Amino acid sequence: MAEPAMIHPAVALSRPVEADVAAGRRRQHGRRLPDSRAPLSGDTMPAIPLVTRGNGLRLHCADGSEYLDAVSGTFNLPLGYNHPHVVAAVQQQASLMSHVSSDLARPYAQSLLDRLLALAPPQMGAGWIRDATGSTAVECAVKIAQKATGKSDVITLFHGHHGQTALTTSMSGPAWRREGFPLQNSGGILRVPEPNCASCFYGQTYPSCELLCARRISDIAAQAGRGSTACLIVEPVLGNGGNIVPPKGYFRALRRVCDDLGILLIADEVQTGVGRTGYFLASERFDIRPDIIVLAKGLGGVGVPIGAVLMRSELDVLQTSDHSFTGGGNLLGLAAAQATLDVVGARDFLAGVRLRGAYLGGLLSSLSQRQPRVGQVRGVGMMWGVEIVDAAGRPDPETARAVVGIARDRHHLITRSSEYGRGHILKVRPALIATESDLEEIVDRLGASVCDASVREVESVRDVEGTQHASAGL
Ligand SMILES: Cc1ncc(COP(=O)(O)O)c(C=O)c1O
Repeated sequence: MAEPAMIHPAVALSRPVEADVAAGRRRQHGRRLPDSRAPLSGDTMPAIPLVTRGNGLRLHCADGSEYLDAVSGTFNLPLGYNHPHVVAAVQQQASLMSHVSSDLARPYAQSLLDRLLALAPPQMGAGWIRDATGSTAVECAVKIAQKATGKSDVITLFHGHHGQTALTTSMSGPAWRREGFPLQNSGGILRVPEPNCASCFYGQTYPSCELLCARRISDIAAQAGRGSTACLIVEPVLGNGGNIVPPKGYFRALRRVCDDLGILLIADEVQTGVGRTGYFLASERFDIRPDIIVLAKGLGGVGVPIGAVLMRSELDVLQTSDHSFTGGGNLLGLAAAQATLDVVGARDFLAGVRLRGAYLGGLLSSLSQRQPRVGQVRGVGMMWGVEIVDAAGRPDPETARAVVGIARDRHHLITRSSEYGRGHILKVRPALIATESDLEEIVDRLGASVCDASVREVESVRDVEGTQHASAGL
């Protein structure tokens, strides 16, 4: 397998990609290009050569190397990198017009909304399609809840992730995410423990806990809230927080809590929506019965940005001046979403995802049986998390990070660990179009990476022991 070349990201931005591809062929692998520009703030030097083309689950690089993507981009490519039906729809739309102002785009947005509502739980009767990102779509949902209830505050889960705008950062946990942003620690967000049975905040065991994590929410709101709670927001499967799949009965209990408190339940389906769990919406899969559903990421099929908010008819309270963005509900996004629904909504597509998702779960479980550094495997559909543990079975974020690096550099597999590399859960969320053989390849490469990471650790322990022995004159 070819060693990846290091190419400075700023170079890729300084002229058309085609020029870089040509230059990449002439360039010697591994040679760094001169810094013709300062790097973009926040950039780190990528360990992957310049990617020039995506095909299905694979990324092709300027130096001829190829990577298999186990996480579908940023978990936003349900149909892979270049599904022809979506690409054709976007090309066709771009040739007509890419943008008209939102009032003129209304018929296009309405047509998409009608299709989304037909796929949503029956209580959903209205929608808002003026967002391009999940973060602002979540903010839209909160604004709807606030305006409809006349209240202000939001209940979120400790390890929930809802985005990176000022408000959604403040809604996302844990605390390190908010460090350095004092404004985002201001009041109005009440955080409660999530239903993580592998590491219960209350030290309980399911089912004898009788879902204490859900039942306690009312007490927390009563004791620690400001008396003005508008809504509770939850990811059906906590994605960035460690692929936590709530136990049976949790969502029913949550619905009861919301009804008792008189607050709205928002399902953040930015990651779980558009077939990721083997159902168009996880709200259907888990019978969540939310008042509001947020979609983004996968809605654009191949990565075209678009967000949407669905709600009960009586929550249709926003004015256009309340929430609208220049690039939100853009015609290209609307075209991509329509084409995505053609594919995901086709007969048998989701049944196939359920079957292949179960196959993936089986492959990962058998990896866990063979490989002691793989602990619990949890997930549903094409959304899996693999726990990386140390020799004593404790969570091991450092090895999880090492596995991600080894997978990328040695086995040309792209995966990611939870909580932006701070967590010990490896994410496996391939495109929904992954075949059985793609899934086998992903798990083979992942298994080899875990193996290499464990060997590397044993070798480094030996090196330390060797050094100690040498310095002790043994
Ligand atoms: C569950 C969830 N909600 C919201 C967001 C924010 O979406 P975006 O990055 O498009 O703003 C994310 C992004 O990772 C997410 O996973």
